[in-house]
Amino acid sequence: MDGVQQWAEGVSYAPCPPDEFCGRHEEREQLLALLSRAGEHGQAAMISGPPGIGKSSLLNRLAYDLQDRTNGPRSPVLRAEVFDLPGMIFSAFRELLKDLQGHAVSGRFRDLLESEGLKEAVRYADDLLEKYAAPVEPVGLLPKAGEEIIGVFARSPEVGYDRVREAFEELLQELGRLMVGSGHIAAVLLDDVHLASRLDRRLLLDIIHDLPPGILLAFTCRAGDGVGPGYAAMREAVQNRGAPLVQLPGMRSHEIQEMGQRRFDLAISDATAALLEETPGDPFSLMACFNTLRHRGLAPSAGNIGGLLAGGGDPAGLAFAALPEFRRVWAEELCVLNPPFPVPVMACMLDLQGTDMTLMMDRLQESTIFRRLPGGEYAFAHPLLQEHCRRKLSADAKITLNARAADCFERSMHRLSGRLHVLLSLACHFFNAQDYAKAADLNLELGIRFYHREDYDTALVLTERAITSAEHLGDDALLAAAENQRDLVRQKMADPVGAVQ
Ligand SMILES: Nc1ncnc2c1ncn2[C@@H]1O[C@H](COP(=O)(O)OP(=O)(O)OP(=O)(O)O)[C@@H](O)[C@H]1O
Ligand SMILES: [Mg+2]
Repeated sequence: MDGVQQWAEGVSYAPCPPDEFCGRHEEREQLLALLSRAGEHGQAAMISGPPGIGKSSLLNRLAYDLQDRTNGPRSPVLRAEVFDLPGMIFSAFRELLKDLQGHAVSGRFRDLLESEGLKEAVRYADDLLEKYAAPVEPVGLLPKAGEEIIGVFARSPEVGYDRVREAFEELLQELGRLMVGSGHIAAVLLDDVHLASRLDRRLLLDIIHDLPPGILLAFTCRAGDGVGPGYAAMREAVQNRGAPLVQLPGMRSHEIQEMGQRRFDLAISDATAALLEETPGDPFSLMACFNTLRHRGLAPSAGNIGGLLAGGGDPAGLAFAALPEFRRVWAEELCVLNPPFPVPVMACMLDLQGTDMTLMMDRLQESTIFRRLPGGEYAFAHPLLQEHCRRKLSADAKITLNARAADCFERSMHRLSGRLHVLLSLACHFFNAQDYAKAADLNLELGIRFYHREDYDTALVLTERAITSAEHLGDDALLAAAENQRDLVRQKMADPVGAVQ
């Protein structure tokens, strides 16, 4: 580890790099054991636990163990992450396909994946996934043209869910066949499934139900209060298959000592480790605690740690207190955005241009609280940091920053490729900025599109925003239309056939 650079701000709160990963031997064994069975029957596993317990880090390490480790099984790994913006239909599944395409075209698994059948199956599945979401993607939008956003949603759905499912399942079967033929297993890893929309959860459940030989599927799902309906449904599906549920506990004292040593160069005594095992025990809080000790130049004694933890406060608050002021300002200004954050939008939010933008990206690279995503966008290094910043925003700051975010999206729209993300972000920012005139139409229109796409959860969120907006505007006709739409959505949600978990 590069001492000076590293300690300028501390150790990143992003999921742990595999070479710094500590402990969790049992859980790793449990997951790796699935590999030996996956040649006969496809295997699935769910990694769960409360926020900050180390699920994403374990998934990272699993990817390394399976794909990269010397003397490891050298299994091709496809990875994707779900982000917290309801309605991003199948975007994580498209990420998986992109990974597979990458492996098949230029990666070191090219020989294993050399098959016209597979390439065709990838193209077909990707085409269907894209078409499924297409009606909510406006083409040829001009910036600053809210009305035109509405005008482009004329097409009706052409691709039904069943075709998407079949295409994805056929693709996995083809991949599994190739793997079994060459004595390998392909691993599909999905992070943060609790954030997935209804359709993505449905596709994942269908896939788990019928996983072909040659495939190992592992995914993470937050457990605990307020994580929505995803967790219970996923746990049930995994258990029905007899697949393992890997529930992560807090770190044990020897793992805490290993973490202190390996990631922070801190020698933690047995007594201190025992204290930390009791409270707080989760790796995120440990990271905040160790970073703060380093920042304040304190020894890792039980007394000093007891002092840090005495407030019993939010560990993300502890993390921010140890950061330079400008970093806290950036975090506050960016926290209203929905990840992944496009670079032009971030630069606009921070009022940076030209060479400043290069500097911004360098600074983000060094930072402990942001991380660069594989597609070049950014996110907070850990969701708890973003959640903390959002909670701390005053009502006025929330309005101002959301108005700025809406404006930045409109200005940058022509440079952004993820149209669905742009539209959903705009719908959210207009609403949170209390720009009800723009929010009403856009949320109502998007709501009906999601209704036709059978994503009733997202349809309801959007339609309820339209109702609130219409109430603020005092527009009775709009309010009646929005309430009518809400009733339609609710009917579908109450219908046991339509109501997929
Ligand atoms: N086994 C580990 N060894 C070293 N550091 C770890 C380990 N597990 C987690 N960490 C660190 O702890 C923090 C939280 O871990 P991680 O992001 O994996 O949690 P999570 O369970 O995925 O959280 P969330 O529920 O918010 O997604 C990260 O900063 C990570 O680097
Ligand atoms: Mg995580």
